[in-house]
Amino acid sequence: MNETIQDNLNYKKYVIDSRLKYFKPHSTKIEKSFSEEISFSLNRDSKFIHPKFFYDKKGSELFEKICTLDEYYPTRTEISILKSIQNDLFELLDGSFRLVELGSGASVKTRLILDVFNKKYDKIEYFPIDISEILTESSELLLKDYENLSITGIIDTYEGGLEFIQNYDSEKNLIVFLGSSFGNFSPIEGAKFLEKINSTMKHGDLFLIGLDLVKSTSVLEKAYDDSKGITAEFNLNVLSRINDELDADFDLSNFKHYAIYNEKDQRVEMYLKSLVNQSVIISKSNLSLELHKDELIHTEYSHKFKIEQIKELLGKTGFKIQKIWLDKNNLFSLTLASKN
Ligand code: AVJ
Repeated sequence: MNETIQDNLNYKKYVIDSRLKYFKPHSTKIEKSFSEEISFSLNRDSKFIHPKFFYDKKGSELFEKICTLDEYYPTRTEISILKSIQNDLFELLDGSFRLVELGSGASVKTRLILDVFNKKYDKIEYFPIDISEILTESSELLLKDYENLSITGIIDTYEGGLEFIQNYDSEKNLIVFLGSSFGNFSPIEGAKFLEKINSTMKHGDLFLIGLDLVKSTSVLEKAYDDSKGITAEFNLNVLSRINDELDADFDLSNFKHYAIYNEKDQRVEMYLKSLVNQSVIISKSNLSLELHKDELIHTEYSHKFKIEQIKELLGKTGFKIQKIWLDKNNLFSLTLASKN
C-alpha cells in the first residue's frame, strides 16, 4: 500500500491485529436493498428470488449440511481433485503468489491451497472477498493453524474486491472461484463476470475455477432434491427469511421444493411451487402477492458444463488455459488459466 493509497480512499481499513485486517467500502456504491429487490422480483408474472438471498445464518448452515450429503457430489469431488493436484499446483506457481478467494469458503478447500503455499513460501497472504461473513471463526482458526499467514478481508462485491486488489500492489495473485458458484450466473452474465475478472488480472496472475460437469439427469436431480430433504429446507428457508426480515406472512406448508434438470440449457433449476391459490403480504416491500396453485417462484439456476464449453468460455473471455483437472469419474472440473 503505497502509490495506491488514493484508490483505497474509498475503503475504510480495520486492523484487528498484525495478521488480520479488513477493508470495507464507505458505502459508496448504491446497492439495492433486500426489500427493493424482492418487491421487483416477486411483483411480476414470472416470479423469482435471487439465490444470493439463500445465505442468511440458517441458510448458510443448511448449505454446509448439503455439502456433506451423499447425493450432493460437488463438494467432496472438488476436494478430492484439489488434494490430487497439490503437487501440480506447487509446480505451476512460478514465483511468489498471494491467494485471493471469491467468496470466503468454509475453508477446507482454502486450506488445501494454503498447504501448497505453506510448502512453497515463508509468508502467506490470503485475501478473501465477500460481501459479508469474512471475519468468522474460520479466519481465527486459519491464523492459528498457519503461523505465517496474514489475512486481508475485503468486504465488498466480487467486482469491487477485484478492483481493489488490482490497485493494491504488484504482487501476483492466484484468484480462486470454487464450488461451481459460477453456475448460478446466466451464460451472458457469466461471460461478463469472467471478462471482469480477466480485466483486473495482470500478466502472470492465475485464475482457478471449479465447474460442475454435465451428467445424467437422475444424478443431478438427486443432488438437488436429496432424500433427507435438506435442499428442500434450504430452498424454503428463503421464505422464512423474507417473513422475518420483510415482515411477510408466507406459510411454508403451502409451498414445495421443486428441482428439475433442464437438459437443453444444461442447468438444474430450483423453484418453490405454490400448492394452493394464496395471497401473501410482504409489508416492507409494500407488496400483496397473489399466487395460483402450481405457480412457480424461481430461486436458482445451477449450470453444468462440458469440457469443450469450458475451453470456449474461458478462451472467449480473455484467458489462456494452463490445465484442466477432473476427478476419476468425470463429475467435476478445476481449470487453471492465465491472462491471454
Ligand atoms: C453454491 C451455487 C454452487 O448450485 O450447487 C446447492 C448451491 N443449491 N444445492 C449449487 C446449491 C442447491 C450450489 N452453489
